[in-house]
Amino acid sequence: MVDDQLMHALVQAARAARERAYAPYSKFAVGAALLDDHGRLHAGCNIENAAFPQSQCAEASAIAHLVLTGGRRILAAAVVGVAVDPVTPCGGCRQRLREFATDDVPIWIADLQIVRAHYTLGQLLPASFGPEHLA
Ligand code: THU
Repeated sequence: MVDDQLMHALVQAARAARERAYAPYSKFAVGAALLDDHGRLHAGCNIENAAFPQSQCAEASAIAHLVLTGGRRILAAAVVGVAVDPVTPCGGCRQRLREFATDDVPIWIADLQIVRAHYTLGQLLPASFGPEHLA
């Protein structure tokens, strides 16, 4: 169980990461932050590319840092974006998160001022395919 204080720290880390987004094409900056199984926070931003399909989502950037520093589990996540509707992870990123997270993992969705929505991974990606299927 991840307490609300830690969840808010994740939101803050995602907001800071969003400031570093490289999104000259969409102009849509996103930040993400993850809590790993060592209690560490990992943040990432979206990184776009002139060859559009080569762009990388914020969640993927954060996962790269988590893995690079030895993390193997995601215990909680926050995603920050600014839009009319809450900026939830795209379908591909839901699956990316699933690789390292279980259904009960909380995912908070925030903008620059408030937390807009609370989900679990299982709500965002029900009946998912994961590493257990290959075990
Ligand atoms: N984006 C993310 O970084 N994460 C998501 O889950 C949704 C979309 C980025 C990708 C692209 O750089 C921009 O937002 C517009 O789609």
